[in-house]
Amino acid sequence: MVTSTTREQPPITCHTAAKWWSKDTIAIVTGANKGIGYALVKQFAKLGLTVVLTARDQARGLEAMDSLKVLGLDDNVHFCQLDIADRASIGSFVSWFKSRFESFDILVNNAAVSFNAMGENSIDYADIVINTNYNGSKQFTEAMLPLFRRSAFTSRILNISSRLGTLDKLKNIEMKAILEDIERLNEDRIQAVVSAFLQDVAAGRWKDAGWPEIWTDYSVSKLALNAYSQVLARRYEGVVTVNCFCPGFTQTSMTDGKGNHSADDAAEMAAMIALLPPRRLTTGKFYAASTTRGMISKL
Ligand SMILES: NC(=O)c1ccc[n+]([C@@H]2O[C@H](COP(=O)([O-])OP(=O)(O)OC[C@H]3O[C@@H](n4cnc5c(N)ncnc54)[C@H](OP(=O)(O)O)[C@@H]3O)[C@@H](O)[C@H]2O)c1
Repeated sequence: MVTSTTREQPPITCHTAAKWWSKDTIAIVTGANKGIGYALVKQFAKLGLTVVLTARDQARGLEAMDSLKVLGLDDNVHFCQLDIADRASIGSFVSWFKSRFESFDILVNNAAVSFNAMGENSIDYADIVINTNYNGSKQFTEAMLPLFRRSAFTSRILNISSRLGTLDKLKNIEMKAILEDIERLNEDRIQAVVSAFLQDVAAGRWKDAGWPEIWTDYSVSKLALNAYSQVLARRYEGVVTVNCFCPGFTQTSMTDGKGNHSADDAAEMAAMIALLPPRRLTTGKFYAASTTRGMISKL
């Protein structure tokens, strides 16, 4: 990711978010039946956008819609089932979307899985983790790219990522060189990295191959998502902006409820990034939430 230090760029605060959107601004959030995704739908709805809440499980999605209704926030929220790891589900979502809307403005790729409890590092489900967190977000993005309203000022992708997937966590020199070579980076080269990881897992040598050491499969999935975000940011410069956001250690089911702040706090920061005013809009950045310093864009 292209990054900048906090000295070069002031922290992003609520004041940054001068309102440019309306209820005609449409945001889609994946994995939004709970956690940060659900909190972000609430935040967007409160701010007056039209939101598409998606969930892989129909019943859990409808429950989330019921909760929004109780809060009086469901007026401009629509629900459609979407499993990002299932191509058929993505196809159904695209058909559903096209039957109701012409285009949209903001895509938040939030859905993700981890099968590790805090402090564990099993790779038993590495295939599912990579297939959901990286391939799923990628294939959903590819399906939705043609449907962006395509305004350099308003078309935005925000990939909810993690510091666990930043390049400094990767000690494998060969893999790191591929991901650092921005000029030549593309989907095939990212896939080569992901495939090398899965081969190392299958061969039982992943621990000594220089992959990230915490939540290894999850971290590799986010490493790939960050790299893909860079590829898209360069490819769609002036058409769609693409940024990543790490919400920090947040109290959700992914962390067994542990964390430094709530999902609502994380969603407030995510919304600020997703809704940056056109004059401050960035692309190819990795934003990280910091409980003590507010929002920073980091190296
Ligand atoms: N919590 C943290 O400390 C933390 C830190 C850094 C980054 N993040 C990132 O923040 C994002 C949100 O995580 P969270 O903490 O809110 O976790 P969470 O509460 O476990 O929520 C994850 C959401 O993703 C959904 N999901 C999983 N697989 C899916 C699929 N194949 N298709 C569609 N939806 C799917 C889940 O649906 P089900 O309910 O059906 O499982 C759930 O709605 C993730 O990208 C995560 O990596 C979280």
